[in-house]
Amino acid sequence: MIITEPSSQNDFELYYNLRWRILRKPWNQPKGSEKDELEVKSIHVMVCNEDRIPIGVGRAHFNSNEEAQIRYMAVEDEWQGKGIGSMILSYLEEKIKERGAKNIILNARDLAIKFYEKHGYEIVKEAHTLFDVIPHYKMTKKIAATLNLPKRKV
Ligand SMILES: CC(C)(COP(=O)(O)OP(=O)(O)OC[C@H]1O[C@@H](n2cnc3c(N)ncnc32)[C@H](O)[C@@H]1OP(=O)(O)O)[C@@H](O)C(=O)NCCC(=O)NCCS
Repeated sequence: MIITEPSSQNDFELYYNLRWRILRKPWNQPKGSEKDELEVKSIHVMVCNEDRIPIGVGRAHFNSNEEAQIRYMAVEDEWQGKGIGSMILSYLEEKIKERGAKNIILNARDLAIKFYEKHGYEIVKEAHTLFDVIPHYKMTKKIAATLNLPKRKV
């Protein structure tokens, strides 16, 4: 299993396909509905099997220098509950820290709230209801800045 950022056209096709199958298809949403206008500016990550087929994906973008937002977290059904989502979230949080943002926000599906709470996110307020049936909650987490100071010899 590897964690990596999609790079080739094939990577991106499989990456968006997983997003669509997990987050859109069950609600009869068309292909294309799994993307938004921020894809080119975003950090994308995927966990892949040994054949470089993604089994979990996630994305982060920046709303400002201070605030990042995580979206489109999706793990293949049979791989859920095995730590893949946590790997993706930690990877994105590290990248966000490196860029110096101070907090992360996301809109969690009600069924995913426990997952984010385990990773230190707190509910701020009720948010939108997607496709009229999936309640979302705005959640946030403050992140400590990472200091990349040179190591001192002792
Ligand atoms: C939500 C999701 C991304 C989490 O990824 P995952 O790989 O299943 O999660 P992990 O295995 O890393 O779980 C980490 C912890 O959160 C818990 N957890 C994960 N999903 C949970 C859920 N839906 N309800 C309760 N607890 C959950 C796990 O039990 C685990 O707890 P532990 O550390 O005590 O064992 C994934 O389940 C998924 O894709 N779900 C369907 C799509 C979705 O809802 N995406 C989120 C949109 S906001």
